[in-house]
Amino acid sequence: MEKEKITVSLIKADVGGFPGHSTVRAELKDKAKERMEKAKREGLLVSYHVLNAGDDLQLLMSHRKGVDSPDIHGLAWETFEAATEVAKELKLHGAGQDLLVDAFSGNIRGMGPGIAEMEFTERGSEPLIAFMMDKTEPGAFNYPIYKIFADPFNTAGLVIDPVMHDGFVFEVWDIKEKKEVFLRCPEELYDLLALIGAKSKYVIKRVYPKETSPLPKDEPVAVISTEKLYFTAGKYVGKDDPVALVRAQSGLPAVGEVLEPFSLPYLVSGWMRGSHNGPIIPVPFRYSQCTRFDGPPRVIAAGFQISNGKLVGTADMFDDPAFDLARRKAQEIADYVRAHGPFEPHRLPVEEMEYTTLPDVLKKLEGRFEKVE
Ligand code: 13P
Ligand code: 13P
Ligand code: MG
Ligand code: MG
Repeated sequence: MEKEKITVSLIKADVGGFPGHSTVRAELKDKAKERMEKAKREGLLVSYHVLNAGDDLQLLMSHRKGVDSPDIHGLAWETFEAATEVAKELKLHGAGQDLLVDAFSGNIRGMGPGIAEMEFTERGSEPLIAFMMDKTEPGAFNYPIYKIFADPFNTAGLVIDPVMHDGFVFEVWDIKEKKEVFLRCPEELYDLLALIGAKSKYVIKRVYPKETSPLPKDEPVAVISTEKLYFTAGKYVGKDDPVALVRAQSGLPAVGEVLEPFSLPYLVSGWMRGSHNGPIIPVPFRYSQCTRFDGPPRVIAAGFQISNGKLVGTADMFDDPAFDLARRKAQEIADYVRAHGPFEPHRLPVEEMEYTTLPDVLKKLEGRFEKVE
């Protein structure tokens, strides 16, 4: 008999910050847990965890409904709506801001929230890491996902483990043109880098095993949310803060290889007003709140073992002095880039600023420009 597959869905939205854009109030998480618990009782969910990454409310769910299930997406939408009501009562900042449409229409994609979900056959041991970032964009996952699945200096298994030795297949999206391409690594590694180095345009959407792997080739081993709200809303509304799910071990990178890229506080765009470059800091859950200049951008990692569909957890993976040096470096980099104030490259390049409120300021000057002879 074929084993029943499990689906893990991580759906997030900013439905109100406290204070400003720093974190999520406990009342919102309690409301979300109430909804999730009801759905579990009714048999829709196998298990769930409610977390927050900065000001983003995170719903991590396991179920048997497959990806793009209207039931699961609808549950997430209703949960965000219920949490929005609480946020409005408390007059939290930007209450309901990520719910861009009035009514749910069957699939949560393009409606505001960010989503990473994948369906797969549960292995004998199924470790899963859920990454959640605040104050940055989907392209912020390009660097770590590349390191995890394609860089032998990061992932020893690419060299040592015969199952991983042939590499992985990367599904890359051009999020501006809405196109996708599949690249095989290591053969097409330089092509992959040619694209994903431009992280505001090309983002890794999924990673798949190669044909030589004993894992099913059509089941992703990693998935990243790629929602860019300004493409939906037509203007800056922030809130592209991305999430990712990464499976580990037994023919896949080890948990430690999955976490290793975050030892470098690499530069991402986002931070204050979604308009600045800065380092990303790996933090434990208790520091999952943005303060300095509404940041710096940060990432949490929640670790699980899946057992008969149940997400057994949560392990707070960055709650470890092993990441202290990355955090210290990040403070130094933050200090250095902050000193640039409104100057690039701390401030994002002009093309990126198009999606912010800056064009409104520049409009005022339009009539004053005269031709240079
Ligand atoms: P185990 O032998 O505990 O599965 O660990 C293997 C491994 O990959 C550690 O990095
Ligand atoms: P969020 O996208 O996390 O809501 O942050 C928006 C912002 O403008 C921070 O300064
Ligand atoms: Mg916010
Ligand atoms: Mg946010």
